[in-house]
Amino acid sequence: MDISSEIKRIAREKNALILAHNYQSGEIQDIADISGDSLELAQKASKNDADIIVFCGVHFMAESASILSPEKKVILPDPDAGCPMADMVDAEGLMELKQEHPDAVVVTYINSSAEVKALSDIICTSSNALKIVERAESNKIIFVPDRNLAAYVQRFTGKKIIPWKGFCPTHEKFTIADLEAVREKNPGALVIVHPECRPEVIDAADKVLSTGQMVKFVQETDALKIIVGTEIGMIHRLSKAAPHIEFIPASESFICPNMKKINLEKLYHSLVNEMPVITVNDDIRVKALKSLERMLELSY
Ligand code: 13P
Ligand code: SF4
Repeated sequence: MDISSEIKRIAREKNALILAHNYQSGEIQDIADISGDSLELAQKASKNDADIIVFCGVHFMAESASILSPEKKVILPDPDAGCPMADMVDAEGLMELKQEHPDAVVVTYINSSAEVKALSDIICTSSNALKIVERAESNKIIFVPDRNLAAYVQRFTGKKIIPWKGFCPTHEKFTIADLEAVREKNPGALVIVHPECRPEVIDAADKVLSTGQMVKFVQETDALKIIVGTEIGMIHRLSKAAPHIEFIPASESFICPNMKKINLEKLYHSLVNEMPVITVNDDIRVKALKSLERMLELSY
């Protein structure tokens, strides 16, 4: 059996849409209907006429799709594909912080649970974080859970940002010494990094971009050699978008183990059995939907 053609045939038959985050392996990106960053995938999940969404990504992404499209069956091919950063803030912790700063607006990174989204005013992603903070109706912003994205946004806004202390273990592992080493081996190469990187890595980079912005950037730049400071799945995505450019992984160990839990076999079985299904209880869903919809409204 050719598993790829079978997946495509069953997806067509069931009117299923396969969404893949840019960090997925090449085989998953190639079979997906759409590959994209968190914002692009949330936008797609909110507007499509599929009966089933198969989300090749991590749990919070499938959960967001289910919040935005509750009438659809949203499937995550591996239920254990989580995001450790999203787990670094819980509803209780956020409630305490809100009590300390009752006049602040809560802007929450999409890498968070539905319960945390339900307690938030607006969601953001790495591609619209600054825009959302600027458009939020307060000069005081609680920003959860990513401290690095919070610090990055703080550089460009006069608003006061109160950060949570979360971080992405995959991006945090990449140090300034790693960056200097790869740069030394590749003199003249341009360095692009994700805003989840450490502040000193961001300082040293040439461009700081979300994964979707990286795709657009490489289609427009004159650079011919680029060091990619984010998860290794991006190399496949960027090479497809700009095959004439040489892409160098910033580090061979720049791997998100959760993103890599999904493979063709799991995708096939989840599509055949239509499980595991990700759902959110209605109480939480309605509140979380408000903050997600606010982001989509403000992302123009
Ligand atoms: P993007 O929205 O840039 O794709 O980032 C998602 C993510 O989880 C990065 O670690
Ligand atoms: Fe979460 Fe980091 Fe993996 Fe993104 S790369 S899904 S932030 S653990």
